Amino acid sequence: MTQSFQFPAEFQWGTATAAYQIEGAVHEDGRSESIWDAFSHTPGKVLNGDTGDIACNHYHRWKEDIQLVKDLGCKTYRFSIAWPRILPHGRGKVNQAGIDFYNRIIDELLAADIRPMVTLYHWDLPTALPNAWLDRGTVDAFAEFTSVTARVYGDRVKDWVTINEPWCASFLSYKLGIHAPGLRDHYQAFIAAHHLLLAHGKSVPILRSECSGAHLGIALNLSPIYPFTKSQADLDAARNADGELARWFLDPLYGRRYPADIIADVQKAGVFKSAEPEFIQASDMECIAAPTDFLAVNYYSRNIVKAGSKHNEDPTSTEPVAAPGGEHTDIGWEVYPSGLFEILSRVYWSYKPAEIIISENGASYADGPDEDGHIHDQRRIDYLRAHIQQVGKAIQTGIPVNGYYLWSLMDNFEWSMGYSQRFGIIHVDYLSQKRTLKDSAFWYRDLIQKNSI
Ligand code: FCB
Repeated sequence: MTQSFQFPAEFQWGTATAAYQIEGAVHEDGRSESIWDAFSHTPGKVLNGDTGDIACNHYHRWKEDIQLVKDLGCKTYRFSIAWPRILPHGRGKVNQAGIDFYNRIIDELLAADIRPMVTLYHWDLPTALPNAWLDRGTVDAFAEFTSVTARVYGDRVKDWVTINEPWCASFLSYKLGIHAPGLRDHYQAFIAAHHLLLAHGKSVPILRSECSGAHLGIALNLSPIYPFTKSQADLDAARNADGELARWFLDPLYGRRYPADIIADVQKAGVFKSAEPEFIQASDMECIAAPTDFLAVNYYSRNIVKAGSKHNEDPTSTEPVAAPGGEHTDIGWEVYPSGLFEILSRVYWSYKPAEIIISENGASYADGPDEDGHIHDQRRIDYLRAHIQQVGKAIQTGIPVNGYYLWSLMDNFEWSMGYSQRFGIIHVDYLSQKRTLKDSAFWYRDLIQKNSI
């Protein structure tokens, strides 16, 4: 896109964070342990043994951080609520100190005319809940958490994301073992995924009844998946990988039930004994398909896959392939802006969500302060500009994208990569906790002001 693009006046520009990645204060004011506390404290699970114990100490510096959100001119701010602060036992007794913390943040945002967008589940499940997402009881506990949260904040918070990236909270966490709780069992990943989708579905009517004017959706991590070669085996591997990453979630959310080809794959692989595994109960699929107001898309890069060595007997055997050439961010993800347009077009034209928001997009680059204390993160600016242009292109072709949340407001705890990855447009010096706006923060502030790219 060479010409500049003017965004609609009501376009929602924001930044995003998540509780465990920024708050710290893990033992304060009645917060209980989450699966991420347990996981990060298990040797070998997180790079350099990093934990979220202190993180950005946002629990104590929230006011300064919200001031930064204001300084950027954000129209909206997406943050998550730590379940272990609200319901330390997972369900039951409510912890007032936890409630108060988010009340202060919400009120501060509203006083500055910034729309709060709350993510209910950004992975910090209380360990008090036995067997985490393998237990169907966790679905009911999430419904309870939703209801408490919507009841106390719903008079002021209207924008809700139920679950962040159910693929990461299931396949990455229960099959690949990379995220908490770090299990490696394909069948269990499907159980977790089903319970996460069901938790989403159950929370939808609760949010609608507890919060008048609720505007809600679920956030999926989506990437176009390309086959490494045009061989039949690689094409099939790409189909399977896309089925697990995208269609396993999109299809049931939009009333199409689970994709038959993926069920056939997992049956052939011996992961499912039947086409109807016992964790799926009557009426679950109707519950999951509860109508939402928007689809939230987290986009970072594309994936390339090839057939794994056992692909003939096991169609789920696929292997990621590094993108040939091209630019990569520090976390190793290829810079691939046109994939964002591709994903937006695909989800819109095949599922027709009423509205789409980009709930996360951003880049990890380690640039730190120079001698004058300035942070020249030109590569991040280039990444953001190229991706936001794709958002403009999508809007021009009639796709209703109404918001963009930059990941992230500030550098933070990047899950299994610990503090090694810096996604922020604000630099955090973890020793002094000093915040410094990077060049990209000034650039984003100007973009919001102009409302054009
Ligand atoms: C997404 C997560 C978010 C952040 C970014 C880089 O998968 O939702 O918390 O870690 O990746």
